[in-house]
Amino acid sequence: MSLHTKEIRLEAGDRTSEAWLEVHHAANRALWGRTAQRTSVEEIVDVAARRHEARRAFAVADEATGVLVAAAQTIRRTRDNVDTAGLWLSVHPDHQRRGIGRLLLAHCERSLRDDGCVRIHEHSGAPVEHGDAATGFALAHGYHQTLLDLRQDLVLPVPDEALAMLDPGLDDTAYVIETAVDGLPGEWLEDRALLARRMSTDAPSGDIDLEEEDWDAERVRLVWNTPSPVWGLESVARHVPTGRLVAFTDLVVRPGQPDLAVQVDTLVLREHRGRALGLAVKLANLRALQRERPDVTSVRTWNAESNAHMIAINERIGFVVTGWTREWAKEL
Ligand SMILES: CC(C)(COP(=O)(O)OP(=O)(O)OC[C@H]1O[C@@H](n2cnc3c(N)ncnc32)[C@H](O)[C@@H]1OP(=O)(O)O)[C@@H](O)C(=O)NCCC(=O)NCCS
Repeated sequence: MSLHTKEIRLEAGDRTSEAWLEVHHAANRALWGRTAQRTSVEEIVDVAARRHEARRAFAVADEATGVLVAAAQTIRRTRDNVDTAGLWLSVHPDHQRRGIGRLLLAHCERSLRDDGCVRIHEHSGAPVEHGDAATGFALAHGYHQTLLDLRQDLVLPVPDEALAMLDPGLDDTAYVIETAVDGLPGEWLEDRALLARRMSTDAPSGDIDLEEEDWDAERVRLVWNTPSPVWGLESVARHVPTGRLVAFTDLVVRPGQPDLAVQVDTLVLREHRGRALGLAVKLANLRALQRERPDVTSVRTWNAESNAHMIAINERIGFVVTGWTREWAKEL
């Protein structure tokens, strides 16, 4: 087979873009079967525009037929951690183990290096604990594992009585929980920016140094309060004596997979830990999810294996482990 690597401009509804995404989906289905995660070109384009990221899509095509056999996207951050890039790479299951992944990876690494990146930091997931093709592939190309995350799934609905039994019963002169559906109140944005900055340094990142992310109210607004095909739900804990937001958690539902809610971040400010605020915001978000989106049938979350506290909270709610994700890094 004669192969040709090309760059693609992703656009919703465009045939080549959809074929590019189908390569990722086919690789994902081969790995995860029925539970494979899906996305949409619309969402990929939207997310890149609203986050401070420069993304480029590449594909390997069979020159004779034009059929795409591998797909990748490089993700450069433009606001913080600008020299550390992300990468999403898949080879169609009918064409794996023939050196195509190696070819496309070399192309992506070269392009990132030319764009000024010095490091790649990415993850790969599998439904088995001891790794899969991506593990062998990453190790064969000079990547080292920085972290192991557990993937946990929760089947919905959780009965109201079960949620009530977990309720930590906060002292409402100290903390109150507030929930926002698909957009954040303007009054939250300043505090949320601080929480997002802390999130970037306080969640376990493993064996890699990343700089604190540069969040301000405007960046929060861009992600959460501009029209988007991604639906979001957020609960926060407000410290009553100071009026400040001191904990948050958020879930998103994406157009490519509208029956799945994906957990994004959860954080309690260091000074307010040990008071069950993490559990309280998660329960509030779950109640709101079941009320607002009865069509969602499960919730999925990832946490560092070492993050025993967060994993224990999830287990109490009823989450079960469904996968293992390895984070990888390589100096270019
Ligand atoms: C991981 C993946 C991209 C590899 O693509 P590929 O075209 O099959 O890989 P290559 O043929 O170029 O393999 C290059 C080397 O990687 C390693 N490798 C690849 N597949 C492997 C496997 N199943 N088991 C162990 N090592 C493997 C080997 O060292 C291989 O060299 P070799 O064949 O000479 O032994 C592909 O399996 C895939 O798309 N998986 C699903 C999506 C994914 O997990 N992507 C990576 C995360 S972004």
